[in-house]
Amino acid sequence: MLASGGGSNLQALLDHLGGRDASAAVALVGSDRPDAGALARARKAGVPTVLIGNAGADAAALLAALGAHGIQLVVLAGYLKLVPAAVVQAFHGRILNIHPALLPSFGGPGMYGRRVHEAVLRSGARVSGATVHLIDEQYDRGTIIAQWPVPVRDGDTPERLAARVLAAEHALLVAVVRRAAVRLAAGRPVVPLDCAADQFAAADLPAPAVDDALVST
Ligand code: GRF
Repeated sequence: MLASGGGSNLQALLDHLGGRDASAAVALVGSDRPDAGALARARKAGVPTVLIGNAGADAAALLAALGAHGIQLVVLAGYLKLVPAAVVQAFHGRILNIHPALLPSFGGPGMYGRRVHEAVLRSGARVSGATVHLIDEQYDRGTIIAQWPVPVRDGDTPERLAARVLAAEHALLVAVVRRAAVRLAAGRPVVPLDCAADQFAAADLPAPAVDDALVST
């Protein structure tokens, strides 16, 4: 997991993966910010951490850390730096990112954090949600793996919408990482989740703590 912020998505993975769930476990947490809450959460959980610079030389250091910990899947959640190209290439098809909107809408350069939810509210959209997608050189334009819609409510503020979307993110990310890890362990690529064929249903997900998420059927 690479994160620059508070790490609530990391916490969702720490809470639901590993232990009895042998499909996946968080084995390393990296950040470009020494004070990132995500690093504190990792340390509290006893998970190794690594600080990432943004110079090319750090690409080698990051690759070495990923290799040393046997990382098979990289998950970005609020990681605000570009992943070095050498890492994107070495982990092609194995880097997931979670975005707090329904890509391809409300994505791209500068679209992160509060700005995303402000743009959704300004647009008049009645549905927002979370997207998990693969990272490639185009960033927010990688293959979409799964999405989870949530309603936009009258009177929503960016903060209230962000909280509703964030709870859906936590549920979605756990399910997607679990399935991706199982597929990679079987030597199969990470592919978009097909609700019908993949039995991807609400029952698979830890109950998101949202009062009004639209449950995808
Ligand atoms: C999440 O909203 C995620 O969608 C976005 O950055 C935020 C990270 O939040 N990319 P947290 O640090 O996991 O709480």
